[in-house]
Amino acid sequence: MTRSTLIIVPGDKSITHRALLLAAMARGPSVIEGALASLDARSSARVLRQLGAGVGPIVAGRPLTVVGRGRLRPASGPLHCGNSGTTARLLLGLLSAHRFSSTVTGDRSLRRRPMRRVTEPLTLMGARFAPPNADRLPLRVRGGPLVPLDWELPVSSAQLKSALLFAGLAGNVRVAVREPAGLSRDHTERMLAGLGFPIGPEGDWIVLRSGGPVPPFQLRVPGDPSSAAFLIGAGLIGKRAVTVSQVGLNPTRLGYLEVLRRMGARVTLSVEGETLGEPFGTIHAEPGELRGTVVRAGEIPGLIDEVPLLAALAARAEGETRFEQVGELRVKESDRLAQIAGNLTALGYPATGAGNVLTVHGSDHPPRGRVTTEGDHRIAMAFAVLGTVPGARIVLDDRDCVAVSFPGFFAALDRAKGPR
Ligand code: S3P
Repeated sequence: MTRSTLIIVPGDKSITHRALLLAAMARGPSVIEGALASLDARSSARVLRQLGAGVGPIVAGRPLTVVGRGRLRPASGPLHCGNSGTTARLLLGLLSAHRFSSTVTGDRSLRRRPMRRVTEPLTLMGARFAPPNADRLPLRVRGGPLVPLDWELPVSSAQLKSALLFAGLAGNVRVAVREPAGLSRDHTERMLAGLGFPIGPEGDWIVLRSGGPVPPFQLRVPGDPSSAAFLIGAGLIGKRAVTVSQVGLNPTRLGYLEVLRRMGARVTLSVEGETLGEPFGTIHAEPGELRGTVVRAGEIPGLIDEVPLLAALAARAEGETRFEQVGELRVKESDRLAQIAGNLTALGYPATGAGNVLTVHGSDHPPRGRVTTEGDHRIAMAFAVLGTVPGARIVLDDRDCVAVSFPGFFAALDRAKGPR
Protein backbone atom coordinates (compact mmCIF):
# COMPACT_ATOMS: atom_id res chain seq x y z
CA MET A 1 0.00 0.00 0.00
CA THR A 2 1.24 3.53 -0.89
CA ARG A 3 1.98 5.95 1.95
CA SER A 4 -0.98 8.20 2.64
CA THR A 5 -1.28 11.85 3.63
CA LEU A 6 -4.13 12.62 6.04
CA ILE A 7 -5.86 15.96 5.48
CA ILE A 8 -8.85 17.79 6.99
CA VAL A 9 -10.43 20.41 4.74
CA PRO A 10 -12.28 23.58 5.86
CA GLY A 11 -16.04 23.53 6.49
CA ASP A 12 -18.63 23.06 3.77
CA LYS A 13 -19.46 26.30 1.98
CA SER A 14 -23.07 25.45 1.10
CA ILE A 15 -23.89 24.27 4.62
CA THR A 16 -22.17 27.28 6.20
CA HIS A 17 -24.25 29.74 4.14
CA ARG A 18 -27.49 27.94 4.97
CA ALA A 19 -26.62 27.67 8.66
CA LEU A 20 -25.87 31.42 8.83
CA LEU A 21 -29.09 32.40 7.06
CA LEU A 22 -31.25 30.07 9.13
CA ALA A 23 -29.59 31.08 12.42
CA ALA A 24 -30.23 34.74 11.53
CA MET A 25 -33.93 33.91 11.13
CA ALA A 26 -34.14 32.07 14.48
CA ARG A 27 -35.01 33.89 17.68
CA GLY A 28 -32.05 33.51 20.05
CA PRO A 29 -28.52 32.08 19.88
CA SER A 30 -27.46 29.29 17.53
CA VAL A 31 -23.98 27.79 17.64
CA ILE A 32 -22.21 26.71 14.45
CA GLU A 33 -19.02 24.70 14.81
CA GLY A 34 -16.62 24.22 11.91
CA ALA A 35 -18.11 27.09 9.87
CA LEU A 36 -16.10 27.88 6.78
CA ALA A 37 -13.89 30.94 7.42
CA SER A 38 -13.71 32.05 3.77
CA LEU A 39 -14.55 35.22 1.84
CA ASP A 40 -17.89 33.83 0.60
CA ALA A 41 -19.01 32.81 4.11
CA ARG A 42 -17.96 36.25 5.38
CA SER A 43 -20.17 37.82 2.72
CA SER A 44 -23.18 36.00 4.18
CA ALA A 45 -22.17 36.99 7.71
CA ARG A 46 -21.70 40.64 6.71
CA VAL A 47 -25.08 41.10 5.01
CA LEU A 48 -26.88 39.32 7.86
CA ARG A 49 -25.28 41.72 10.36
CA GLN A 50 -26.59 44.60 8.24
CA LEU A 51 -30.03 42.97 8.48
CA GLY A 52 -29.94 42.99 12.29
CA ALA A 53 -28.58 39.54 13.20
CA GLY A 54 -25.82 39.25 15.80
CA VAL A 55 -23.20 37.31 13.88
CA GLY A 56 -19.83 36.94 15.60
CA PRO A 57 -16.53 36.95 13.70
CA ILE A 58 -15.93 33.76 11.72
CA VAL A 59 -12.62 32.38 12.97
CA ALA A 60 -11.36 28.97 11.80
CA GLY A 61 -11.48 26.42 14.59
CA ARG A 62 -13.72 28.51 16.88
CA PRO A 63 -17.45 27.96 17.39
CA LEU A 64 -19.52 30.75 15.87
CA THR A 65 -22.53 32.14 17.70
CA VAL A 66 -25.33 33.77 15.73
CA VAL A 67 -28.05 35.61 17.64
CA GLY A 68 -31.11 35.85 15.44
CA ARG A 69 -34.07 38.15 16.13
CA GLY A 70 -36.79 35.98 14.64
CA ARG A 71 -36.98 38.16 11.50
CA LEU A 72 -34.56 40.29 9.48
CA ARG A 73 -34.65 44.06 9.92
CA PRO A 74 -34.23 46.77 7.27
CA ALA A 75 -30.60 47.55 6.41
CA SER A 76 -29.41 51.12 5.97
CA GLY A 77 -27.21 50.49 2.92
CA PRO A 78 -26.86 48.08 -0.01
CA LEU A 79 -26.28 44.41 0.81
CA HIS A 80 -22.98 43.57 -0.89
CA CYS A 81 -22.69 39.82 -1.45
CA GLY A 82 -19.12 39.95 -2.80
CA ASN A 83 -18.43 36.97 -5.09
CA SER A 84 -21.10 34.76 -3.52
CA GLY A 85 -24.01 33.66 -5.73
CA THR A 86 -25.38 31.51 -2.91
CA THR A 87 -25.56 34.49 -0.56
CA ALA A 88 -27.31 36.67 -3.15
CA ARG A 89 -29.87 34.12 -4.33
CA LEU A 90 -30.80 32.63 -0.96
CA LEU A 91 -31.03 36.10 0.55
CA LEU A 92 -33.40 37.23 -2.22
CA GLY A 93 -35.63 34.33 -1.14
CA LEU A 94 -35.65 35.39 2.52
CA LEU A 95 -36.06 39.10 1.74
CA SER A 96 -39.09 38.33 -0.44
CA ALA A 97 -41.03 37.56 2.74
CA HIS A 98 -39.94 40.72 4.60
CA ARG A 99 -42.07 43.83 4.37
CA PHE A 100 -39.28 46.31 3.59
CA SER A 101 -37.00 47.21 0.69
CA SER A 102 -33.36 46.17 0.29
CA THR A 103 -30.75 46.57 -2.42
CA VAL A 104 -28.72 43.46 -3.21
CA THR A 105 -25.48 43.71 -5.17
CA GLY A 106 -22.12 41.98 -5.60
CA ASP A 107 -18.70 42.12 -7.22
CA ARG A 108 -18.13 42.27 -11.00
CA SER A 109 -18.40 38.48 -11.38
CA LEU A 110 -21.65 38.26 -9.38
CA ARG A 111 -23.15 41.23 -11.24
CA ARG A 112 -22.91 39.25 -14.50
CA ARG A 113 -24.73 36.17 -13.16
CA PRO A 114 -28.41 35.50 -13.99
CA MET A 115 -30.99 36.44 -11.36
CA ARG A 116 -34.28 36.32 -13.30
CA ARG A 117 -34.48 32.58 -12.69
CA VAL A 118 -34.92 33.53 -9.00
CA THR A 119 -36.86 36.79 -9.26
CA GLU A 120 -39.46 35.43 -11.71
CA PRO A 121 -40.91 32.79 -9.32
CA LEU A 122 -40.42 35.09 -6.32
CA THR A 123 -42.47 37.74 -8.15
CA LEU A 124 -45.25 35.18 -8.63
CA MET A 125 -45.15 34.59 -4.88
CA GLY A 126 -45.68 38.33 -4.25
CA ALA A 127 -42.23 39.96 -4.00
CA ARG A 128 -41.49 43.09 -6.05
CA PHE A 129 -38.17 43.73 -7.80
CA ALA A 130 -36.74 46.88 -9.34
CA PRO A 131 -35.93 47.22 -12.09
CA PRO A 132 -38.71 44.75 -12.97
CA ASN A 133 -37.63 41.75 -15.09
CA ALA A 134 -33.94 42.62 -14.73
CA ASP A 135 -31.63 39.62 -14.92
CA ARG A 136 -28.64 41.11 -13.14
CA LEU A 137 -27.69 42.66 -9.82
CA PRO A 138 -27.95 45.24 -8.40
CA LEU A 139 -31.61 44.65 -7.66
CA ARG A 140 -33.99 46.25 -5.23
CA VAL A 141 -36.36 43.80 -3.57
CA ARG A 142 -39.51 44.66 -1.65
CA GLY A 143 -40.98 41.74 0.25
CA GLY A 144 -44.43 41.21 1.69
CA PRO A 145 -47.04 38.56 2.33
CA LEU A 146 -46.47 35.63 -0.03
CA VAL A 147 -48.73 33.12 -1.76
CA PRO A 148 -47.91 29.41 -2.28
CA LEU A 149 -45.94 28.33 -5.34
CA ASP A 150 -45.57 25.20 -7.50
CA TRP A 151 -42.59 25.74 -9.79
CA GLU A 152 -40.68 23.63 -12.31
CA LEU A 153 -37.12 24.93 -12.27
CA PRO A 154 -35.65 25.76 -15.71
CA VAL A 155 -32.28 24.34 -14.52
CA SER A 156 -31.39 21.92 -11.72
CA SER A 157 -29.96 24.46 -9.29
CA ALA A 158 -29.71 24.24 -5.52
CA GLN A 159 -29.40 28.01 -5.24
CA LEU A 160 -32.67 28.54 -7.07
CA LYS A 161 -34.44 25.70 -5.27
CA SER A 162 -33.21 26.99 -1.90
CA ALA A 163 -34.20 30.60 -2.63
CA LEU A 164 -37.79 29.44 -3.18
CA LEU A 165 -37.80 27.13 -0.15
CA PHE A 166 -36.42 29.96 2.01
CA ALA A 167 -39.17 32.26 0.74
CA GLY A 168 -41.74 29.61 1.71
CA LEU A 169 -40.08 29.22 5.10
CA ALA A 170 -39.97 32.94 5.93
CA GLY A 171 -43.39 33.65 4.38
CA ASN A 172 -44.94 30.53 5.95
CA VAL A 173 -46.46 29.29 2.69
CA ARG A 174 -46.31 26.00 0.78
CA VAL A 175 -43.62 25.74 -1.90
CA ALA A 176 -43.26 22.81 -4.30
CA VAL A 177 -40.34 22.61 -6.75
CA ARG A 178 -39.29 20.13 -9.41
CA GLU A 179 -35.85 19.88 -11.02
CA PRO A 180 -35.55 19.08 -14.75
CA ALA A 181 -32.43 16.91 -15.10
CA GLY A 182 -30.73 15.32 -12.11
CA LEU A 183 -30.98 16.43 -8.50
CA SER A 184 -28.94 19.33 -7.18
CA ARG A 185 -27.50 19.33 -3.66
CA ASP A 186 -30.20 18.90 -1.01
CA HIS A 187 -28.65 20.62 2.03
CA THR A 188 -31.60 22.99 2.44
CA GLU A 189 -34.08 20.10 2.49
CA ARG A 190 -32.00 18.17 5.03
CA MET A 191 -31.52 21.16 7.32
CA LEU A 192 -35.17 22.18 7.23
CA ALA A 193 -36.23 18.59 7.94
CA GLY A 194 -33.65 18.43 10.76
CA LEU A 195 -35.16 21.59 12.27
CA GLY A 196 -38.61 19.99 12.23
CA PHE A 197 -40.21 21.62 9.17
CA PRO A 198 -42.63 19.51 7.10
CA ILE A 199 -40.56 19.02 3.94
CA GLY A 200 -40.05 15.98 1.75
CA PRO A 201 -40.42 14.44 -1.69
CA GLU A 202 -43.87 13.91 -3.25
CA GLY A 203 -43.21 12.03 -6.48
CA ASP A 204 -40.76 14.16 -8.48
CA TRP A 205 -41.55 17.22 -6.39
CA ILE A 206 -39.91 18.55 -3.25
CA VAL A 207 -42.60 20.05 -1.07
CA LEU A 208 -42.28 22.38 1.91
CA ARG A 209 -45.80 22.24 3.30
CA SER A 210 -45.41 25.24 5.62
CA GLY A 211 -42.76 27.50 7.15
CA GLY A 212 -42.82 29.52 10.33
CA PRO A 213 -40.47 30.42 13.18
CA VAL A 214 -37.00 28.85 12.99
CA PRO A 215 -35.81 27.29 16.26
CA PRO A 216 -32.25 28.16 17.38
CA PHE A 217 -29.93 25.20 16.74
CA GLN A 218 -26.46 23.72 17.12
CA LEU A 219 -24.62 22.34 14.12
CA ARG A 220 -21.20 20.94 13.34
CA VAL A 221 -20.34 21.72 9.70
CA PRO A 222 -18.46 18.84 8.03
CA GLY A 223 -15.52 19.47 5.67
CA ASP A 224 -16.39 20.57 2.14
CA PRO A 225 -16.38 17.62 -0.31
CA SER A 226 -15.79 20.09 -3.17
CA SER A 227 -12.60 21.32 -1.47
CA ALA A 228 -11.62 17.71 -0.73
CA ALA A 229 -12.01 16.92 -4.45
CA PHE A 230 -8.91 18.95 -5.34
CA LEU A 231 -6.74 17.04 -2.86
CA ILE A 232 -8.24 13.72 -3.92
CA GLY A 233 -7.35 14.71 -7.50
CA ALA A 234 -3.76 15.51 -6.47
CA GLY A 235 -3.55 12.07 -4.83
CA LEU A 236 -4.78 10.32 -7.97
CA ILE A 237 -2.22 11.91 -10.31
CA GLY A 238 0.58 12.02 -7.73
CA LYS A 239 2.76 9.49 -5.96
CA ARG A 240 1.12 9.40 -2.53
CA ALA A 241 -2.31 8.30 -1.47
CA VAL A 242 -4.50 11.00 0.09
CA THR A 243 -7.05 10.52 2.88
CA VAL A 244 -9.49 13.33 3.68
CA SER A 245 -11.34 12.86 6.97
CA GLN A 246 -14.30 14.61 8.64
CA VAL A 247 -15.61 15.50 5.21
CA GLY A 248 -19.26 15.79 4.17
CA LEU A 249 -20.54 12.70 2.32
CA ASN A 250 -23.96 13.90 1.20
CA PRO A 251 -24.63 11.75 -1.92
CA THR A 252 -25.85 14.81 -3.90
CA ARG A 253 -22.28 16.17 -3.66
CA LEU A 254 -20.33 13.04 -4.56
CA GLY A 255 -21.06 12.63 -8.28
CA TYR A 256 -17.36 13.23 -8.91
CA LEU A 257 -16.34 10.01 -7.11
CA GLU A 258 -18.53 7.96 -9.44
CA VAL A 259 -16.94 9.60 -12.50
CA LEU A 260 -13.45 9.10 -11.09
CA ARG A 261 -14.18 5.39 -10.55
CA ARG A 262 -15.25 5.12 -14.20
CA MET A 263 -11.95 6.76 -15.10
CA GLY A 264 -10.21 3.92 -13.30
CA ALA A 265 -9.43 5.75 -10.04
CA ARG A 266 -9.10 3.83 -6.81
CA VAL A 267 -11.26 5.88 -4.44
CA THR A 268 -13.14 4.63 -1.40
CA LEU A 269 -15.30 6.28 1.21
CA SER A 270 -16.63 5.43 4.62
CA VAL A 271 -19.48 7.14 6.43
CA GLU A 272 -18.72 7.71 10.13
CA GLY A 273 -21.56 9.85 11.44
CA GLU A 274 -24.28 12.41 10.77
CA THR A 275 -24.82 16.07 11.71
CA LEU A 276 -28.29 17.70 11.22
CA GLY A 277 -29.08 15.11 8.54
CA GLU A 278 -25.70 15.39 6.79
CA PRO A 279 -23.50 12.25 6.65
CA PHE A 280 -19.74 12.74 7.06
CA GLY A 281 -16.67 10.49 7.07
CA THR A 282 -13.53 9.74 5.07
CA ILE A 283 -12.54 9.68 1.38
CA HIS A 284 -9.36 7.86 0.38
CA ALA A 285 -7.62 7.97 -3.02
CA GLU A 286 -4.69 5.93 -4.35
CA PRO A 287 -2.47 7.06 -7.24
CA GLY A 288 -2.96 5.31 -10.58
CA GLU A 289 -3.60 5.61 -14.30
CA LEU A 290 -6.81 7.30 -15.49
CA ARG A 291 -8.80 6.84 -18.70
CA GLY A 292 -11.36 9.05 -20.44
CA THR A 293 -15.10 8.77 -19.91
CA VAL A 294 -18.42 10.40 -20.80
CA VAL A 295 -20.17 12.45 -18.13
CA ARG A 296 -23.89 12.54 -18.93
CA ALA A 297 -26.39 15.39 -18.46
CA GLY A 298 -28.17 13.77 -15.49
CA GLU A 299 -24.88 13.53 -13.58
CA ILE A 300 -23.96 17.21 -13.91
CA PRO A 301 -25.97 18.71 -11.00
CA GLY A 302 -24.26 16.26 -8.62
CA LEU A 303 -20.76 17.38 -9.64
CA ILE A 304 -21.31 20.89 -11.00
CA ASP A 305 -18.47 22.43 -8.95
CA GLU A 306 -16.07 19.57 -9.76
CA VAL A 307 -16.08 19.93 -13.56
CA PRO A 308 -12.94 22.13 -13.55
CA LEU A 309 -11.06 19.52 -11.49
CA LEU A 310 -12.40 16.55 -13.48
CA ALA A 311 -11.41 18.32 -16.71
CA ALA A 312 -7.90 18.93 -15.35
CA LEU A 313 -7.61 15.24 -14.45
CA ALA A 314 -9.04 14.28 -17.86
CA ALA A 315 -6.06 16.09 -19.39
CA ARG A 316 -3.84 13.42 -17.77
CA ALA A 317 -6.13 10.51 -18.67
CA GLU A 318 -5.79 8.22 -21.64
CA GLY A 319 -8.19 9.13 -24.47
CA GLU A 320 -11.04 11.59 -24.59
CA THR A 321 -13.43 12.79 -21.87
CA ARG A 322 -16.75 14.41 -22.76
CA PHE A 323 -18.94 16.41 -20.41
CA GLU A 324 -22.49 16.74 -21.78
CA GLN A 325 -24.93 19.55 -20.99
CA VAL A 326 -22.49 21.71 -19.05
CA GLY A 327 -23.81 25.06 -20.39
CA GLU A 328 -24.55 26.09 -16.79
CA LEU A 329 -20.78 26.43 -16.31
CA ARG A 330 -20.92 29.59 -18.40
CA VAL A 331 -22.75 31.44 -15.62
CA LYS A 332 -20.62 30.42 -12.64
CA GLU A 333 -18.01 32.70 -11.00
CA SER A 334 -16.48 32.93 -14.50
CA ASP A 335 -17.42 31.40 -17.85
CA ARG A 336 -15.92 28.11 -16.70
CA LEU A 337 -16.55 26.35 -19.98
CA ALA A 338 -14.40 28.91 -21.81
CA GLN A 339 -11.80 29.08 -19.02
CA ILE A 340 -11.32 25.31 -18.84
CA ALA A 341 -11.11 24.80 -22.61
CA GLY A 342 -8.91 27.87 -23.18
CA ASN A 343 -6.46 27.11 -20.40
CA LEU A 344 -6.15 23.39 -21.16
CA THR A 345 -5.47 24.19 -24.81
CA ALA A 346 -2.86 26.79 -23.81
CA LEU A 347 -1.12 24.17 -21.66
CA GLY A 348 -0.93 21.72 -24.57
CA TYR A 349 -4.07 19.59 -24.03
CA PRO A 350 -6.58 19.98 -26.87
CA ALA A 351 -9.97 20.86 -25.39
CA THR A 352 -13.12 22.42 -26.79
CA GLY A 353 -16.10 24.02 -25.11
CA ALA A 354 -18.66 24.35 -27.88
CA GLY A 355 -22.34 24.88 -27.12
CA ASN A 356 -23.08 22.83 -24.03
CA VAL A 357 -20.36 20.22 -24.44
CA LEU A 358 -16.82 20.18 -23.08
CA THR A 359 -14.31 17.77 -24.61
CA VAL A 360 -10.80 17.13 -23.28
CA HIS A 361 -8.08 15.03 -24.95
CA GLY A 362 -5.67 13.49 -22.47
CA SER A 363 -1.91 13.35 -22.91
CA ASP A 364 1.09 12.57 -20.72
CA HIS A 365 3.18 15.58 -21.68
CA PRO A 366 3.92 17.92 -18.73
CA PRO A 367 1.66 21.02 -18.62
CA ARG A 368 3.51 24.26 -19.23
CA GLY A 369 2.21 27.80 -19.49
CA ARG A 370 0.17 30.55 -17.92
CA VAL A 371 -3.35 30.04 -16.59
CA THR A 372 -5.89 32.89 -16.61
CA THR A 373 -8.30 32.35 -13.73
CA GLU A 374 -10.62 35.38 -14.17
CA GLY A 375 -10.44 35.43 -10.35
CA ASP A 376 -12.39 32.14 -10.23
CA HIS A 377 -11.38 30.06 -7.20
CA ARG A 378 -12.21 26.67 -8.70
CA ILE A 379 -10.35 27.37 -11.95
CA ALA A 380 -7.28 28.36 -9.90
CA MET A 381 -7.43 25.22 -7.74
CA ALA A 382 -8.10 22.82 -10.63
CA PHE A 383 -5.07 24.08 -12.55
CA ALA A 384 -2.92 24.15 -9.41
CA VAL A 385 -3.66 20.41 -9.10
CA LEU A 386 -2.58 19.89 -12.71
CA GLY A 387 0.56 21.83 -11.81
CA THR A 388 1.61 19.08 -9.38
CA VAL A 389 2.53 16.54 -12.09
CA PRO A 390 6.27 15.97 -12.55
CA GLY A 391 7.82 18.41 -15.01
CA ALA A 392 4.84 20.81 -14.86
CA ARG A 393 5.48 24.53 -15.08
CA ILE A 394 2.18 26.35 -14.57
CA VAL A 395 1.81 29.96 -13.50
CA LEU A 396 -1.61 31.08 -12.20
CA ASP A 397 -2.43 34.74 -12.83
CA ASP A 398 -4.25 34.88 -9.47
CA ARG A 399 -3.63 32.59 -6.50
CA ASP A 400 -5.41 34.72 -3.89
CA CYS A 401 -8.88 33.95 -5.29
CA VAL A 402 -8.82 30.50 -3.63
CA ALA A 403 -9.75 32.35 -0.40
CA VAL A 404 -13.34 32.50 -1.69
CA SER A 405 -13.86 28.87 -0.66
CA PHE A 406 -10.60 27.28 0.53
CA PRO A 407 -8.24 29.41 2.62
CA GLY A 408 -5.01 27.44 3.11
CA PHE A 409 -5.48 25.58 -0.17
CA PHE A 410 -1.87 25.82 -1.35
CA ALA A 411 -0.47 24.50 1.94
CA ALA A 412 -2.94 21.58 1.81
CA LEU A 413 -1.99 20.90 -1.82
CA ASP A 414 1.71 20.83 -0.87
CA ARG A 415 0.93 18.24 1.78
CA ALA A 416 -1.15 16.15 -0.63
CA LYS A 417 1.65 16.28 -3.19
CA GLY A 418 4.20 15.04 -0.64
CA PRO A 419 8.00 15.22 -1.08
CA ARG A 420 9.13 14.91 -4.69
C1 S3P B 1 -24.53 26.00 -4.44
C2 S3P B 1 -25.11 25.51 -5.55
C3 S3P B 1 -24.43 25.36 -6.85
C4 S3P B 1 -22.92 25.54 -6.74
C5 S3P B 1 -22.52 26.62 -5.80
C6 S3P B 1 -23.13 26.42 -4.42
C7 S3P B 1 -25.35 26.07 -3.21
O1 S3P B 1 -24.98 26.30 -7.71
O2 S3P B 1 -22.35 25.76 -8.01
O3 S3P B 1 -21.11 26.63 -5.68
O4 S3P B 1 -24.79 26.23 -2.11
O5 S3P B 1 -26.57 25.96 -3.32
P1 S3P B 1 -26.29 25.90 -8.55
O6 S3P B 1 -27.06 24.91 -7.75
O7 S3P B 1 -27.03 27.16 -8.78
O8 S3P B 1 -25.77 25.25 -9.80
